[in-house]
Amino acid sequence: MSSLQSDKNNILVCLWKVAAISGIVLYLVSVFLFHNPASEFSPPLRLPCPSSELNACASPTNISHLMFGILASVKTWRHRKLYTDSWWRPNVTRGYLYFDVAPSGDLLPWSPLSPPPRVSDDITELLKESKHRRPMMVRMVHAILELFRDEHDWVRWYIMGDDDSIFFPENMVDVLGKLDHTKYIYVVCNSENIKSNVGFSFNMGFGGGGFALSYPLAEALSKDLDNCFKRYPYLRSADEMTMACIDYIGVSLTVNKGIHQIDLHNDLSGFLSSHPQVPLLSLHHFDQVNPIFPKLNRAESVFLLRKAADVDQSRLLQQTICYHKQSNWSFSVSWGYSAHIYESVIPRTTLKKPLETFKPWVRNTRPPLFIFNTRWVTNDPCEAPHVFFFDSIQKRSVNEVVTSEQHRVGYRPVHQAEIIRQIMSRELRSSHLLQSLMSMKELKFRLREMSGLSSMSQSNLCKTVVMSGLVLYLVSIFLLNSPSCPASEFLALTWPSPRPITVVTESQYAPTNLSHLVFCIVGTAKEWKTRKSYIEPWWLPNQTRGYLYLDVAPTEDLLPWSPFSPPFKVSNVDTSQLLYTRHIFEGFVVRIIQAILEEFREEHEGVRWYVMGDDDSIFFVDNLVNVLGTYDHTKYYYIGANSADIKSNVEFSFDMGFGGAGYALSYTLAEALVKNLEDCIRLHPHLRAADLVLTSCIADLGVSLVLHKGLHQIGVHNDTSGLLSSHPQVPLLSLHHFDLVDPIFPTLSRSESARHLMEAAN
Ligand SMILES: *[C@@H]1O[C@H](CO)[C@@H](O)[C@H](O)[C@H]1NC(C)=O
Ligand SMILES: *[C@@H]1O[C@H](CO)[C@@H](O)[C@H](O)[C@H]1NC(C)=O
Ligand SMILES: *[C@@H]1O[C@H](CO)[C@@H](O)[C@H](O)[C@H]1NC(C)=O
Ligand SMILES: *[C@@H]1O[C@H](CO)[C@@H](O)[C@H](O)[C@H]1NC(C)=O
Ligand SMILES: *[C@@H]1O[C@H](CO)[C@@H](O)[C@H](O)[C@H]1NC(C)=O
Ligand SMILES: *[C@@H]1O[C@H](CO)[C@@H](O)[C@H](O)[C@H]1NC(C)=O
Repeated sequence: MSSLQSDKNNILVCLWKVAAISGIVLYLVSVFLFHNPASEFSPPLRLPCPSSELNACASPTNISHLMFGILASVKTWRHRKLYTDSWWRPNVTRGYLYFDVAPSGDLLPWSPLSPPPRVSDDITELLKESKHRRPMMVRMVHAILELFRDEHDWVRWYIMGDDDSIFFPENMVDVLGKLDHTKYIYVVCNSENIKSNVGFSFNMGFGGGGFALSYPLAEALSKDLDNCFKRYPYLRSADEMTMACIDYIGVSLTVNKGIHQIDLHNDLSGFLSSHPQVPLLSLHHFDQVNPIFPKLNRAESVFLLRKAADVDQSRLLQQTICYHKQSNWSFSVSWGYSAHIYESVIPRTTLKKPLETFKPWVRNTRPPLFIFNTRWVTNDPCEAPHVFFFDSIQKRSVNEVVTSEQHRVGYRPVHQAEIIRQIMSRELRSSHLLQSLMSMKELKFRLREMSGLSSMSQSNLCKTVVMSGLVLYLVSIFLLNSPSCPASEFLALTWPSPRPITVVTESQYAPTNLSHLVFCIVGTAKEWKTRKSYIEPWWLPNQTRGYLYLDVAPTEDLLPWSPFSPPFKVSNVDTSQLLYTRHIFEGFVVRIIQAILEEFREEHEGVRWYVMGDDDSIFFVDNLVNVLGTYDHTKYYYIGANSADIKSNVEFSFDMGFGGAGYALSYTLAEALVKNLEDCIRLHPHLRAADLVLTSCIADLGVSLVLHKGLHQIGVHNDTSGLLSSHPQVPLLSLHHFDLVDPIFPTLSRSESARHLMEAAN
C-alpha cells in the first residue's frame, strides 16, 4: 500500500475508490433498511400473464401447456430413438428435436411417432462474437432460445432434456400445474453423485434429467442469452451456462426429487426400488446403465416401464412400505417396478435407503459418493429381500382376478387367502376408481431371482415360505397401493396408523402466533452458565412457551433462577428401563429423546408446534411463527434440516433433521410419536444419536422429513462469516453450535454476538 501512496495518480484512484465505497455503503444502508430497493436496481421479479393467454391464465395446466425441447445428434439418434418415442405422444405432446445436422438417409422419411425434427441454428457468428470455447455447449443452451422463438402460444412451461432420457409428461403436468407459471421458476434436479455437485454446483440443474422453465423465465432468458454467452465464455458445460444466465436474472433453482439425472452405473434396481413418494418426472442416462428389468434388453425394459406408466403414471416407482403383523414380514413395493419381501420387521428408515446395486458415476472414487444414504447388498438370507419384478398387465374382470389368484394359493393356509379375498372385495366396494382399474387390468408378477440380492436355495433356513402365495398378496398391494397401506388388520403398520383429527375448532385455523409454539431445549446444568447467553437473547419471558430440560438440579451459582431464562425442569427419565437392552445407548441420548415426551406431558393446551433444540442454538421466533404458520399443523409434519457437512449426512442421514439446529413437530405428530416412544426406542437400539432414533420413530409413522433451509446445524468450525454471508433467500430460523464456532461478529464475544444479531432480528 505504501508504494501506491507514493504515486499521485494512485492516490486519486484510491480517493475515488473511497468515494465509491462510501456511496456503496449508503446504498447498502438503503438495501438493509428497505427490503425492495428502487426498480432500476433490481429487475422486476414477476411478470404478468403472458399476453398470448391472458384469459386462460387461471385454467388448469394440461399437456398442451408444456413445450419440450429435446437435444439430439444424428449419430446417436438411431439407437436413442426408442427412448424418446416411448414417451412421446404424436399430436399430443408439443415440442421439437434439435439436431446438430439435418437427419438424412435411413432416418427419412421421418417417423410420425417421433417428435418433429429441427436443425440447430448456425451459431458461427455468435461463437466469434462471444469467443466461446465450447460450440457444442453453446448449441445446447441456444436451443432454449430457438424453442421459445419457434413456439410460444399457450405455453406455460419449457422443458429441455436429452435424447437418452425418458419423461413422464402426465406427471409433469401434475407437478408443474401446482406451481405458478406466471412467476420465474427453474425446476431441476441435482446429480446423484456428490462430486458432480461439488465440481459443478449444488445450485445447478443437471440438464440431462431435464429441467423446466416457466414462460416468463424462458422469455427473460431468451432475451439475454446472446449477451450471456459473451459474459461467460469460459464456462465448461451447458448446464453451468444455463445456471449462470438464470442466476443473472436473480432466480434460484427449485429442486424436484422426481427428476433424475442418473449419474450412476450398472444395476439401477436398488435405486428405482426406493423412489420417494413424489411423482416420477424423468430418468436420464438410459444408455449408461444396465437394462432396468432383468433378462430384458433396454428396448424391452423401456417398453415394460411404459406399460406400467400407461396404467397409472402418477404412482409409478413410488415406494410403499407395509408390514404384515401376523408373520412379521416387511414389504417394500415400488409401484409398477418391483416388490421386495423381507421375512423380518425392518424399520422404514432402512427400507427407504436404496440397496447399493449400482456403481458410482466415476469409478474408483472414494466415499462419500451419493447425495442419499444407501444400504449394502447382502447375501445373508435373513436380511436379503425376495425380489419380484413387475412383469405384465392383463385385462381381466374383478371376479376373475380373485378366482384365478385364489387358485394359486393352494400352498398357503386357507384362512390367509380368505382374508385377502375379503380385503379385496371390501376395498373395491369402497373405491369406484379401483373397481374400474381392476375390471380392466390385472397385475401379474413373474418371480425373478436377482443375482446377489436374494438366495432361495434349499439350505436357506430363513426362507420357509412358499412364494406363490405371496404373488397374490403383492397383487393386492400393487392394486390397492396408497401412501399408508390399506385394510388395517392385514396390512397394518407395526405402529398405530395416523389418527384422523376429529376435533377441529375454529381457533385451530386462526393465524399461528407465538403462543402456539412450545420450545423444548435440552441442556446441562454444567454448561448452562455460558450457554444461557445464547438462549436469553431470543427468549421472551412469559411469552415464549416451553422448558429447558437439565440433567441435574441447577447448582447454587445458577440460583436464584434468572427470570430471563426459560423455566427449567430436571429430566425425569428412568433410563435403566430403556438401557436394559445392553446396547450402546448412553443415558443422555435417551434423555434427549425423552424430552419430547416430558414436554408433551407438560404443555399441550393450544399447542400447534413443538420446537426441539439445543442450549447452544439461537432461534428466530418470529420467522418460526411465520414459516410454521404456512404448514397445516393438524397434519403430520416433521420439519428440519440436514447438516452442511456432507459426511455427517452420509453417516447419520440425509433424511434426518439434525437436532441441534432444531426441528419442529406438528402437534398431531408429536402426539402419535410419544404414544409409542418407549417401544420405539427399544426397537432401534443400534442407533447412536437421539435425532436418528427420532427420525426412525417418525418414519415408522409414515412421515418423512420436510427440509427447511433456514435451520442451521452449522456443521463447520471457526469463522462462519462466509457461510452466513451467502444465506439463501429463505427466513433464517436457527443457528446452532454457537459454542463451537468463532464469534460471528469480529471484535465481539460470543454472547455479545448473539445479542447483536438479535438486535437486527428485532
Ligand atoms: C388445455 O387447456 C386450454 C385452456 O387453457 C384448452 O384450450 C386446451 O384445449 C386444453 N388442452 C387439452 C389437451 O386439454
Ligand atoms: C397427427 O396429425 C396429423 C394432421 O392432423 C395427421 O395427419 C397425423 O396422422 C397425426 N399423427 C398421428 C400419429 O396420429
Ligand atoms: C412377531 O414379533 C413379535 C415381537 O417381536 C413376536 O412376539 C411374535 O412372536 C412374532 N411373530 C412371528 C409369527 O414370528
Ligand atoms: C394467539 O392466537 C390465539 C388464538 O388461536 C389467541 O387466543 C392468543 O391470544 C394469541 N396469542 C398471541 C400472543 O397473540
Ligand atoms: C412473568 O410473570 C410472572 C408472574 O405473572 C411475574 O412475576 C414476572 O415478573 C414476569 N417476568 C418477566 C420477566 O416479566
Ligand atoms: C479454529 O478453531 C480452533 C478452536 O477454536 C482453533 O484451535 C484453531 O486454531 C482455529 N483454526 C483457524 C484456522 O483459525
